Amino acid sequence: MKKYLKEHEWSIIEEGFDPENHEVSESVFSIGNGHMGQRANFEETYSGDSLQGSYMAGVYYPDKTRVGWWKNGYPEYFAKVLNSTNWIGLNIIIDGEELDLYQAKVHEFVRELNMKEGYLQRTFVAELQNGKQVKVQATRFVSIVDKEIGALKYDITPINFSGTLNLTSYLDGDIKNKDANYDEKFWDPVNTWINDNQMSVTLKTKKLDFHFCSTVETQIFINGEKQKISAKPEEKLKFTSLNYDLPLTKDVTTTIYKYAANVTNRDHDTDRLETVGKTVLSQAVAKGFDVLKQEQADAWALKWRDSDIIIEGDVAAQQGIRFNIFQLNQTYTGEDERLNIGPKGFTGEKYGGSTYWDTEAYCLPFYLATADQEIARNLLIYRYNHLEKAKENARKLGFSKGALYPMVTMNGEECHNEWEITFEEIHRNGAIAYAIYNYVNYTGDQSYLGEYGIEVLIEISRFWEERVNYVPAKDVYMMLGVTGPNEYENNVDNNWYTNRIASWTLEYTIEVLDHLKATDLELYQTWIDKLELKPEEVNQWKDIINKMYYPIDEERNIFLQQDNFLNKEIIPVAELDKKHLPLNQNWSWDRILRSCFIKQADVLQGLYFLNHEFDLDTIRRNFDFYEPITVHESSLSPCVHSILACQLGYKDKAYEMYLRTARLDLDNYNNDTEDGCHTTSMAGTWMSVVQGFGGMKIRDNQLCLNPFIPGNWNSFSFKIVFRGARLMVQVDQEKVTITNESNTPVDLHVYDEQHKLNGNSTLQVAI
Ligand code: BGC
Repeated sequence: MKKYLKEHEWSIIEEGFDPENHEVSESVFSIGNGHMGQRANFEETYSGDSLQGSYMAGVYYPDKTRVGWWKNGYPEYFAKVLNSTNWIGLNIIIDGEELDLYQAKVHEFVRELNMKEGYLQRTFVAELQNGKQVKVQATRFVSIVDKEIGALKYDITPINFSGTLNLTSYLDGDIKNKDANYDEKFWDPVNTWINDNQMSVTLKTKKLDFHFCSTVETQIFINGEKQKISAKPEEKLKFTSLNYDLPLTKDVTTTIYKYAANVTNRDHDTDRLETVGKTVLSQAVAKGFDVLKQEQADAWALKWRDSDIIIEGDVAAQQGIRFNIFQLNQTYTGEDERLNIGPKGFTGEKYGGSTYWDTEAYCLPFYLATADQEIARNLLIYRYNHLEKAKENARKLGFSKGALYPMVTMNGEECHNEWEITFEEIHRNGAIAYAIYNYVNYTGDQSYLGEYGIEVLIEISRFWEERVNYVPAKDVYMMLGVTGPNEYENNVDNNWYTNRIASWTLEYTIEVLDHLKATDLELYQTWIDKLELKPEEVNQWKDIINKMYYPIDEERNIFLQQDNFLNKEIIPVAELDKKHLPLNQNWSWDRILRSCFIKQADVLQGLYFLNHEFDLDTIRRNFDFYEPITVHESSLSPCVHSILACQLGYKDKAYEMYLRTARLDLDNYNNDTEDGCHTTSMAGTWMSVVQGFGGMKIRDNQLCLNPFIPGNWNSFSFKIVFRGARLMVQVDQEKVTITNESNTPVDLHVYDEQHKLNGNSTLQVAI
């Protein structure tokens, strides 16, 4: 782990250029707006190692599965968000020599991701091999106001010479996914055109018929004056460019603007795509760079108003949390219920941009508390819309009924193809059910249950009913051959978490059925009839609930991760020589599987989700046993531990885990940030502050806060929206101050005391 980014409250800053860090920086400095996003690639040519990446949300490709040994039930394909047209590209040739930071001497390099206003900027002085020096400033963003617009401004000023600039502004659609299974290209050409200073490339995917049209206008200004220079156009397959010859005068700045309209047939008719592209582009050009950039800053100010977390007295922690909130808001805006949150957002290709249980287990709480209720609801509807596919998936694996949601998906179909996960990591089904509970518990929106939720819950319950097996000799139900959240053990029997979340789903489904019956008999009956739910089925669920087997260790009085966990040699991570870590980069898979080391919260995931069911001593005993043997090699791990450590009053541990999650990518903890940022775990970081340090919970329709503040922080504050009230919670070393910024009164518990907070008023409670 090499720290090279400068600490700053509002920006991520890299000073000095080191090609070694370039791919990590390309991930960290990524920009996005929910509709599209891109890695922080350089506009000009870069011949060193780089992953050029531009992605359009929801535009994916079913890449034929590649496995060594085919197993029945494997999916035919792995869906991948497509790396698509590079609209930022510029070739800059100065007096015959190409500007390439891998070849040039680079001075005064500063790369900044300005999170407050939502743009990426880079300045540097490059000394070419011919001794000529140019100063460059490049600024770009993708608009969160007009989601189809991107814009860049590229200033170039000669420092010690006058000469010529041969500039090529291009649109390159001949792009490949780095992670393509068979090294294939996924895009076919549709059309290209160039007209004056505008050009366009339209592509379509070889399968699924996604069309993507990128249209760009290039403008050139010298010393602030717009130039009318005719360019040499070039059109090739999936590629267009405009080539300009320009004079360069010492100390005089040439500015290149590129405005892009990126439209797809997910949002517009295929036949009209080019027309729409032109219209969107003309809107961008009419506004101009400065207006677009100001609009961007204003829109980000609103996002920060609703979701900012302020930490005073600890710049590293402040920067970390803002980075996480920024990336989450860049990745998913929630307006489009067909979209979801890939574990890497728009920052890389790993995980294919697909949906994992991460969304329900980790991301939902962030959107619930910082955005409009519809946004979290859309995340649930996404899974509702995939219910038929989840049923098909269960059938494919041989189940006669019920739904098994996929581990990885783009359209509802399973894409994962490692048997121990695809077939065995079935706890994901529980997370889908739990998200429904979480949403209703937070928002109080019971209508969701009657409209959509109940159907999903019944189908998931049916799956669990068939997946458990009854053991007559012991009169218990067991669940054999599963992988729990800890993927460092496979094919285990009775993973405590899976058994518990399965049984909990049955309990919750019955509770929701009873609630519907009591509140809307007609609707209840409609669902019973539609889903042909028989009383025997519900009785069977009750029997499973009563007789579910849970492995425990009586001596330590803890839940056992799985039946045979204690047959392993238990060694704390602290006793391992550091050279072994991370295990997944240093040990054979076989050695990992046989070890006691845990990748991520497993039993503790259950204690976090179903926290209300367990007393503090139970949580403590399990935490004290499991945390010391956990290596946190999933980015999703530290946040859950931080939250539980807060609850247990383990302040140092809570803070250690918080920093590990908040700065995971900024400090490249897991040594893999070049593949992309860990976007879904960023929501976990937010949870660590709000649910951990803030101690926020919803119990019996009441907001409860139980804050504590790490010793080295002067104060921290966070914003939440709760049932119509917008609250700011500030915590310093002496007191908690809660300000209701809305007109809606709210009842709440602070440290076990009941309070009423009227609209536009403030409450103070001593710590
Ligand atoms: C974790 C999973 C997670 C996936 C995507 C894996 O490393 O073990 O729980 O869903 O990453 O984030």
